[in-house]
Amino acid sequence: MSKIILTGDRPTGRLHIGHYVGSLRNRVAIQNQGDYDKMYVMIADAQALGDNHDNIQKIRDNIVEVAIDYLSCGIDPSKTTIFIQSEVPELTELTFYYTNLVTLSRLMRNPTVKEEIKLRNFEASVPVGFVNYPISQTADITAFKANIVPVGEDQLPMIEQAREIVRSFNSTYGETLVEPEAVLPKQEVCRRLPGIDGNAKMGKSLGNGIYLADDEATVTQKVMSMYTDPNHIKVSDPGQVEGNVVFTYLDAFATDEQIRKYAPEYNNLDEIKEHYKRGGLGDVKVKRLLNSILNEVLTPIREKRAYYEQHKDEVYDMLFKGSDEARLEAQKTLAEVKRAMGINYREILKK
Ligand code: TRP
Repeated sequence: MSKIILTGDRPTGRLHIGHYVGSLRNRVAIQNQGDYDKMYVMIADAQALGDNHDNIQKIRDNIVEVAIDYLSCGIDPSKTTIFIQSEVPELTELTFYYTNLVTLSRLMRNPTVKEEIKLRNFEASVPVGFVNYPISQTADITAFKANIVPVGEDQLPMIEQAREIVRSFNSTYGETLVEPEAVLPKQEVCRRLPGIDGNAKMGKSLGNGIYLADDEATVTQKVMSMYTDPNHIKVSDPGQVEGNVVFTYLDAFATDEQIRKYAPEYNNLDEIKEHYKRGGLGDVKVKRLLNSILNEVLTPIREKRAYYEQHKDEVYDMLFKGSDEARLEAQKTLAEVKRAMGINYREILKK
């Protein structure tokens, strides 16, 4: 079976290091291993309108920011098709046909939808467009016959619902669509990186994120202000590594090689953790280590970012070229869908 990979992000803000360890790093690795037939990365602007319909400017501005984040991390448009969701109108048409296969109560039971309704205080009156988003996401995935969808943990209910819609379509109209599978990052800590304040979620509204676009001084200042173990007061005190954000980030980022480079008295992270737990290792020292490692990862990203910020026209050209390519593929699938449903009138009635 062919291997078709699709992922996406909503352009509601610049991407942060949670996106990086949760998905971006993985996408680049998969892309460069080359063990797939086709790879797509979508900027989900239409989906983002579901809770930003009155703030189009924000979504428009962030399309290019997210695209620059992708390119800076190493997503390569010669290998991966990067596109803008609303530039592929076939996705909207597929969504429309799929809505008949889903009940409102099933949408409202989707745990991610439920959580996000609460988060946005939509309980009293939720826009139809917003609850519709699992269906639209199914269109995004199935339009490209994607069978592998690398996502964060919060997206699992979306993929589950997409699978249901695919089964329902196929059993009603005949085998046409492909059931997708979610792929999570292997390392547990990478599935949801906490904010620098220890909050379980990293986000713009919480002001607790480290962004790919942050400069070195900003990263350093954020690392130095990170939440650690509140009971680890004196250097000699025994410290706790669980729930200690500095160690969580080290788990997500540090390689043994980096540990030996920046803290040559240790061989690996476990030895550092042991020392911290025993007492005698200060927060500042561990924070400096994390800061060096983060900046080693982020500096090349930052340098590429600076280039693309000066060459936004190249970024737009890339996005429109990718969108044209994606559209051709989605048109093929839409034609198959209409044929399966028997609403391909121009083929049927002309005969
Ligand atoms: N809902 C995803 C998010 O919030 C973005 C997204 C839209 C997506 N369509 C998709 C992800 C299709 C994977 C596949 O991050």
